[in-house]
Amino acid sequence: MPSSGSESKGPSRARLLSEGTPEWIEQWSPEVFRKVGYGMAAGVVATGALGGPLTGLVAAVPVAGYWWLGLRDLKQESSTLKRNFPVLANIRFLLESIRPEIRQYFIESDSESVPFSRAHRSVVYARAKGSSDTLPFGTRRDLYKEGYEWICHSMYPAKPSNVELRATVGGPLVTQKYSAALLNVSAMSYGALSDNAILALSSAAKAGSFYHNTGEGGISRFHLEGGGSLVWNVGTGYFGCRGEDGKFDPEKFRENSTRPNVKMIEIKLSQGAKPGHGGILPGAKVTPLIAEARGVKVGQDCNSPPLHSAFGGPRGLVDFVDQMRELSGGKPVGVKM
Ligand SMILES: Cc1cc2nc3c(=O)[nH]c(=O)nc-3n(C[C@H](O)[C@H](O)[C@H](O)COP(=O)(O)O)c2cc1C
Repeated sequence: MPSSGSESKGPSRARLLSEGTPEWIEQWSPEVFRKVGYGMAAGVVATGALGGPLTGLVAAVPVAGYWWLGLRDLKQESSTLKRNFPVLANIRFLLESIRPEIRQYFIESDSESVPFSRAHRSVVYARAKGSSDTLPFGTRRDLYKEGYEWICHSMYPAKPSNVELRATVGGPLVTQKYSAALLNVSAMSYGALSDNAILALSSAAKAGSFYHNTGEGGISRFHLEGGGSLVWNVGTGYFGCRGEDGKFDPEKFRENSTRPNVKMIEIKLSQGAKPGHGGILPGAKVTPLIAEARGVKVGQDCNSPPLHSAFGGPRGLVDFVDQMRELSGGKPVGVKM
């Protein structure tokens, strides 16, 4: 709590600080910094007189550092905290800079952080390294906590169903219907994900008979090498089906969409993460392999505009869906909002 002394001086510095700050911090000011500095300098002189010049010199080093740092804080104009709390504010910034590590190593509980808790991450690390992920002797979770979810054995288990859990996609106009698994890999572009990540996801999709959505960054060689079923995500940049001018190119679309791996097409309507703004992949990130997948030039900024140029409203969108279905040889075409 602020001391009565600081309160009596009207709007006090202490009020700027959060409640519960130790009183000595609230009392700190440029004047106190100087007074402490003079006291320390006097101490150095006394140490030199009593202990000899070498002892005095050793004592002078931290005091010189104190003055150097404090005067620098007072002179600078970018940090109000440093000007009001010379030297001391640096300790605050230092502690703040190691806050994530302190939280991670000492404070964060095993089940607390989002999106993935330490416990979840540990399981992933253990499995990735091929080491055991099994913990003996029960669980560390609070099973009695409100909201804890679990699966119970049924007293009267149902017979396992022979029905395959898949959904057939495609209406009457679709000639190449696709039987999709219920759990699949959602759209993440090559470029947002690395070569190995795409290859791993595509290989997993093949092994598990589910589909892998390409993301709007086009169909890369890693999508094809993995051999999994693909949903080709087509965004406003028309990567993999664009002409020199960045507009939709029906012939290129036909070429890619008729690949046997491509099972369905998905039109991505706008930039979910940047609504109304579009996105840009800076030229420095447009490597030869990314350029190959997207059909753009190496090293040049790659723009995903905020809106589609191939259509301009609901009617146009429906016509575009029709056009894509026909060009792809009758594959299902969907829309991602
Ligand atoms: C790294 C990354 C890249 C993504 N790229 C695309 C993309 O190219 N096209 C798209 O439609 N969605 C993209 N998304 C959005 C995801 O497909 C998905 O819709 C979104 O992450 C929400 O699902 P989630 O809650 O399971 O993450 C991307 C998401 C991530 C994390």
